[in-house]
Amino acid sequence: MKNLQPSIPPTEKKTKSELQAAVERLAPFHHAIDLPYGLSTYVPTASRQDRERTRMQNLIDHAWPSILSACGGSLAGKRVLDVACNCGGFSVHAARAGASYVLGIDIDPHYIEQANLVKEAVDLHNLDFQQLDLMELDPSKHGAFDLVLFFGILYHLENPVLSLKRISALASNVLAVDTTLMKVPIINRILDRWPMWHMRRVAGVDSAASNITTSRWRPEEFCQFSPNSRAVISLLEYSGFTDIERLKPTVTGLEKRYYNGRRATFIAIKNRGSYPGIRLAHRSR
Ligand SMILES: C[S@@+](CC[C@H](N)C(=O)[O-])C[C@H]1O[C@@H](n2cnc3c(N)ncnc32)[C@H](O)[C@@H]1O
Repeated sequence: MKNLQPSIPPTEKKTKSELQAAVERLAPFHHAIDLPYGLSTYVPTASRQDRERTRMQNLIDHAWPSILSACGGSLAGKRVLDVACNCGGFSVHAARAGASYVLGIDIDPHYIEQANLVKEAVDLHNLDFQQLDLMELDPSKHGAFDLVLFFGILYHLENPVLSLKRISALASNVLAVDTTLMKVPIINRILDRWPMWHMRRVAGVDSAASNITTSRWRPEEFCQFSPNSRAVISLLEYSGFTDIERLKPTVTGLEKRYYNGRRATFIAIKNRGSYPGIRLAHRSR
């Protein structure tokens, strides 16, 4: 029988030394991603902060089992959106976990260049990266996503409420938010009863900055807002999510900020009917 498949030329694979040179040229990377030939995006000599080594594994250990469970136990056949994907570590993880399609978007072209190098090296065809401001995401163009990852971005936004409403319009079921929280010494427990946002003016960065692996899109002074836990829950409810849980850091070896309350991960669900077995701590409707 005649083969009707179009003949697709095999992708030119980089040799080990070519891949290593490309990784070194684009380093530092914010996520340590395993690459072919036993290579990694983590280049110790180029690293600016230890978080580049720990960030990805930390969040996977801490949050991934709960994310999977909120998605009904598996990502098979699911569409995943990774907002502010940076070099794409979580997108790759979702694609490797069997998602049917993963879209990672980031505002900064350098991070998308890193992500595309990773995509080419790991050879995953269910994965796409686009340079995009999250405010440009549009359900009529990009479709709906079963799972949206919203990691390390909420507290960077000048318009967090509007941004989350936009994101919610693309999220059909599960949203996972990992964020820095507002923390006021001693009285934090009292303040946590009310939804509050702490405003901070943050200096722009230049190429010598130690946080260049995540902040290079921000050359000018920036205004950002860190929420307390109640504000995150309230914002998620306002944006249309009905079942919300702040994950407890139950595993050992996470960055200190997850244990001292400066950082937390939330899982939020809407259209809960898809997974009636799921029970999250906070149920608004
Ligand atoms: C702290 S990093 C978080 C990276 C990754 N999600 C993680 O949690 O490890 C923040 C990322 O947000 C991206 N970013 C900032 N503003 C954005 C926007 N408006 N739209 C899309 N990406 C944005 C930055 O380029 C950067 O890669």
